[in-house]
Amino acid sequence: MSRSPVPSDLSIGQMAARAGVPVSTLHFYEAEGLIRSWRNPANHRRYDRRELRRVAIIKVAQAVGVSLSEIREVLDRLPRDRAVSAQDWAEAAAPWRAMLDERIALMTRLRDQMGHCIGCGCLSLDSCPLYNAQDRLGRSGPGPRRWTGTAGERA
Ligand code: FES
Repeated sequence: MSRSPVPSDLSIGQMAARAGVPVSTLHFYEAEGLIRSWRNPANHRRYDRRELRRVAIIKVAQAVGVSLSEIREVLDRLPRDRAVSAQDWAEAAAPWRAMLDERIALMTRLRDQMGHCIGCGCLSLDSCPLYNAQDRLGRSGPGPRRWTGTAGERA
């Protein structure tokens, strides 16, 4: 990508330091087409400061388990020929809302029910005979039936 330099552009070292990622991570994100750089006349890689937001979104999304392909789908919806507005970000991320709500609900159950019977079939806790006597939840399917909200009962 070629363009005219602006004072706020960052070297790869500055970009890595500000984003809090190793240089190798920036190379990886760029190879994956998630971020872009350009080359100055000395052939040094430069980043538009706005790429920092993309790196931040990638890092946070990865931390909560969003795959790179899901991240790419969102980033690909953003315009590259002009500054990305708050509205652009909101519209691009809209498809994530239901997926993130689902993950938040699952993480909440994980946090709150680790010490309780989750209907996994182990029958190893004192509460299992109360909530999953003789593994009756296993008849409705595999996995932790009370965690995934598929037990056909209120958790
Ligand atoms: S915790 Fe596994 S069946 Fe109760």
